[in-house]
Amino acid sequence: MELQQFKAFITIIILSFISIILMLYYFTGLLSSKLPTFVYDINLKTIPTKAPSPSYIPSKSTIDNQYLLHKVTISNSSNRILTSQNEWISTKPPYSTVVLPEYKALGVDCSRIFNNDVEYTKTIIKQQDSIKHTIFPDQKVADYAIDCTKYRRHYTTTIPTREEADYPLAFQILTFKDAAQFEYLLKTIYRPHNQYCIHVDKKSKQPFWSAILNIAKCFDNIEVIDEKEAVDVKWGFYSVLEPEIICMKNLWKRKTKWKYLINLTAQEFPLQTMQDLIKILKSLKGANSLEGTVARRNVERTEKDINMKPKIPFNKGITIAKGAVHLVVQRGFVDYALHNTTALEFNDWLKDTFHPDETYFPSLNHSPQLHIPGSYTGNPETDPVTYPFIGRFKNWGGYPFDYPCAGKRVRGICILSIGDLSLLANRKELFANKFHLDYQPFALQCMRELIYNRTRDELAGKREIDLSYYENLKMVKYHIGSSP
Ligand SMILES: *[C@@H]1O[C@H](CO)[C@@H](O)[C@H](O)[C@H]1NC(C)=O
Ligand SMILES: *[C@@H]1O[C@H](CO)[C@@H](O)[C@H](O)[C@H]1NC(C)=O
Ligand SMILES: *[C@@H]1O[C@H](CO)[C@@H](O)[C@H](O)[C@H]1NC(C)=O
Ligand SMILES: *[C@@H]1O[C@H](CO)[C@@H](O)[C@H](O)[C@H]1NC(C)=O
Repeated sequence: MELQQFKAFITIIILSFISIILMLYYFTGLLSSKLPTFVYDINLKTIPTKAPSPSYIPSKSTIDNQYLLHKVTISNSSNRILTSQNEWISTKPPYSTVVLPEYKALGVDCSRIFNNDVEYTKTIIKQQDSIKHTIFPDQKVADYAIDCTKYRRHYTTTIPTREEADYPLAFQILTFKDAAQFEYLLKTIYRPHNQYCIHVDKKSKQPFWSAILNIAKCFDNIEVIDEKEAVDVKWGFYSVLEPEIICMKNLWKRKTKWKYLINLTAQEFPLQTMQDLIKILKSLKGANSLEGTVARRNVERTEKDINMKPKIPFNKGITIAKGAVHLVVQRGFVDYALHNTTALEFNDWLKDTFHPDETYFPSLNHSPQLHIPGSYTGNPETDPVTYPFIGRFKNWGGYPFDYPCAGKRVRGICILSIGDLSLLANRKELFANKFHLDYQPFALQCMRELIYNRTRDELAGKREIDLSYYENLKMVKYHIGSSP
């Protein structure tokens, strides 16, 4: 009897144990199927810590799983690049190898989308819509970036080409949320010799600040504007222009004499590879690319102040223009905008006007009488044919930026989607505005794959950009000053 009882007892224990396991399995399974999919570098490959052995001499572009060894730059211990872009490694060490962290979108065949396979694109849109996407939490990004040695492996930390090394750029990025999306952009445009300034909106929440600060401290060429100095950006007012000026000043002070400055928001993404970006900028021969119109400007913005009181006109020979707020400007232009008395007085005068950010730089760029480097001497009217704005692809849905939008329009601007990719693949603009990672994760992932593939193919000598479109732009012919 006692043995019987003991047996029953043991059986009950075992059965309840099994049912607990089963229940746990069931509930966690259920839970996980309800969890939203986080959008991050889900397919990030682990890149080995050790660089390939110095005796490894690739005969030609060699692609192994982790490393892409193409053209190799040779540098001595002070990291000065000694070989030209086209030389394969053939001499003795010391040298460094170009490491391009591989990127491939998961669960989607991006090529078919870029090649406008309509049926396939529809299927993917359905799949994407059936999942609730949430951006990877800022706190997790912050945690990832704590270990810089590991974190830096996801970035291109050697300069891929001599041409790039000789043509440093400055980027200023305005950001306020979603560190994971910010990373998408940064990982694509990061090069160790370029200069980056990040402005985080004062309103941004704590984990976001930590994420950005942790990332930046892993790189000595990325600076974040101090929280004390950061601006609470309010649409329509001077506070939009202010962080740009703060970042510009920050970038101006750096030792690197960068050639062009580009401003971006974290919701933008490049349409060109970094090597091509340099080639395009060089072919502009010093011209700035700024959108602008004098005829279509909102005259009341500078005739009245924000209290609707009439303003005394600014009579220092500036042509008042209005433009989209994206800058692709050469060094000399930045110097003028930051330091020339006329420019500074104009900046002051704009402080009590609406949308001064849309007035300041476009006006400087369309006042050739001031002889500002890179400014435009032609008719100051953006026009898709005669005076296109190559800084951004931005689909406003109205002239001169009217394209079909496969995504959704938010305040008139198309939030780009998978269905827009085949159009984007062939655009000549430098960057596209605007993406939302949580709305269309595949769109951004495919863009990243496209840029990665093109970078890889160019470094392997299998792809080359045709610059004739850029060389023949009117602004190349009609502008003040020469290449920076
Ligand atoms: C690296 O090379 C540059 C250019 O040849 C030279 O000026 C510099 O002294 C070298 N540095 C070292 C540490 O060898
Ligand atoms: C990128 O390259 C990979 C490997 O060659 C290829 O499978 C993929 O389809 C390419 N993607 C795009 C967008 O070209
Ligand atoms: C670029 O600079 C302009 C002018 O200051 C600013 O208004 C705008 O917000 C910036 N654009 C981006 C995309 O950061
Ligand atoms: C500022 O710009 C004006 C007009 O372009 C020019 O005449 C003047 O010399 C400049 N001043 C300085 C200090 O650079």
